Amino acid sequence: MENQDLKRHLEEAGTNLHMTLSTVSHELCNTLTLLMGTSRLLEQEHPKITSDENWINLCSDLTHMQAFLADLTAFGSAQEITLSRELLDLNSMMNEICRTCQPLFDSLHKRLVLSCLPFPAIVYADSGKLCHVFTNLIKNGLEALGTEGTVSLRIRSASKEEASVIGSKAVAVEIKDSGSGIPKDLLEKIFKPFYTNKPQGTGLGLPIARAIIHAHSGTLTASSHPGKGSVFTVVLPALPTSSK
Ligand SMILES: Nc1ncnc2c1ncn2[C@@H]1O[C@H](COP(=O)(O)OP(=O)(O)OP(=O)(O)O)[C@@H](O)[C@H]1O
Ligand SMILES: [Mg+2]
Repeated sequence: MENQDLKRHLEEAGTNLHMTLSTVSHELCNTLTLLMGTSRLLEQEHPKITSDENWINLCSDLTHMQAFLADLTAFGSAQEITLSRELLDLNSMMNEICRTCQPLFDSLHKRLVLSCLPFPAIVYADSGKLCHVFTNLIKNGLEALGTEGTVSLRIRSASKEEASVIGSKAVAVEIKDSGSGIPKDLLEKIFKPFYTNKPQGTGLGLPIARAIIHAHSGTLTASSHPGKGSVFTVVLPALPTSSK
């Protein structure tokens, strides 16, 4: 098959997958909304039911399904991401994200630390979507920790090699954890849709995160020392003010 034909077939397959995902998740979302509505109604009419263990499990499964569908929908739209860009300082953004995540870390007795650049790290980016990416990577780091451990966030200037991959001046954000680590042969698989080793996981967090970063002309990569922890690195094109 000619390269052009192959490319066209792949594009068509991608479009079909996207349409199927959108249709399925849309239908399931509608049904789920009805189910959630009925369950709220039942709770109002029979308040005692809220303490029944089976009911609690049912509600928790519904909530899980809702989160899964939200991810599925996000994955569907991640195929054709539209960005609403503005100038952002990654230092301020990561500070804000840390402030939001801190209570969860405190409640689980885990550490979250942030190291910023001593000068503005300006990117032209979609703040909501970047926030989604970093929050997901922090959540993964937290979930990889054992009984104790640390998730460390570091904003730094990108190396020459990192910048050359994206072809512009760049800034990097590392999300490092002292958790279980990832075997070498899984380092790329974890970015494939639906790969998960968590009972409640969707396996969509990383593919969505990567699609969002690619839409910003950046890169998202992982490295790991099994047993010691992992580092996820986001490299984004930076504006000239992102240096001294
Ligand atoms: N920091 C990490 N340390 C170890 N393994 C990781 C880490 N981040 C991701 N993984 C592995 O990659 C898999 C895929 O991650 P991804 O975020 O895509 O989905 P998930 O976390 O399993 O599900 P969800 O994001 O819906 O909760 C995880 O199940 C886990 O096996
Ligand atoms: Mg995840």
